[in-house]
Amino acid sequence: MNVRRIVVIGAGQMGSGIAQVCAAAGYMVNMQDLKQEQLDKGMAIITKNLSRQVEKGRLTEEGKQATLSRITPTVDVSCAKEADLIIEAAVERMDIKKQIFKQLDEIAPQHAILATNTSSLPITEIAAVTKRPEQVIGMHFMNPVPVMKLVEIIRGLATTDAVYETIESITKQIGKVPVEVNDFPGFVSNRILLPMINEAIYALYEGVATKEAIDDVMKLGMNHPMGPLTLADFIGLDTCLYIMEVLHEGLGDSKYRPCPLLRKYVSAGWLGKKTGRGFYIYE
Ligand code: CAA
Repeated sequence: MNVRRIVVIGAGQMGSGIAQVCAAAGYMVNMQDLKQEQLDKGMAIITKNLSRQVEKGRLTEEGKQATLSRITPTVDVSCAKEADLIIEAAVERMDIKKQIFKQLDEIAPQHAILATNTSSLPITEIAAVTKRPEQVIGMHFMNPVPVMKLVEIIRGLATTDAVYETIESITKQIGKVPVEVNDFPGFVSNRILLPMINEAIYALYEGVATKEAIDDVMKLGMNHPMGPLTLADFIGLDTCLYIMEVLHEGLGDSKYRPCPLLRKYVSAGWLGKKTGRGFYIYE
């Protein structure tokens, strides 16, 4: 299928990153968000990232301007009328995702593929609210999107091979590496990453070591670019808790129970880097 126009729903950290990499690869992109303020923030992040590329000599000023000109920020969801592919990167809640997919299914042209950047919610359940479940697929990008190579591609129960192949090809065109995964809670990435982070929080909770020591062990001993507690702050502790709950409920095994300390931090509003405090304090 020939995809020319991509609509990205959500202009947060993930949505703006996705819009940036798609526009940089030559796609026409509409970045939609309910709030103008969020669109402005998203465009500022993209502009800053591209300017850094120019400073480093990896992109010309004209290249930067051309990428920016391919992105149209808008609060109007009817831009989905023009879409060949929609990538949803809104808030990680099933009720909201279902509402968005129902609405997109009504607005988008018949041929359009509806993808979600969900980090752990079942694609099959999201697809079931649409009249085109065979054209619904998971496209899970990693944070920070412009840097991380992986896109986990998740087939729902009804996703066709043709839709999978189109998404695989677009993923390669935007410079990412597609990895095919089936629709199980947390897919592969978060089924493995989040229990490790949760275990690091248990180690802190039980007094096995300080937060700095836990992070140093994983950074210096296992060559992880960030320690698990720093990474948890970077992902957002609310998101970490949400994913652990999806794993716990979806797989029904007590080994996925979220650490009480994680719950406590989330209740306190210490959500990590985005709120200025998580396991660490951010100025
Ligand atoms: N946006 C764009 N570019 C960024 C960036 C951002 N937010 N943060 C860093 N970069 C770029 C920098 O500009 C720099 O680029 P150059 O090499 O061209 O100069 C490069 O990344 C390296 O950055 P730094 O030197 O500043 O710092 P670093 O070497 O520590 O790298 C990092 C930063 C890439 C974030 C690295 O620490 C890392 O890989 N951390 C782990 C990230 C990770 O695990 N992500 C997955 C999270 S889980 C997820 O996303 C799934 C989920 O569903 C929860």
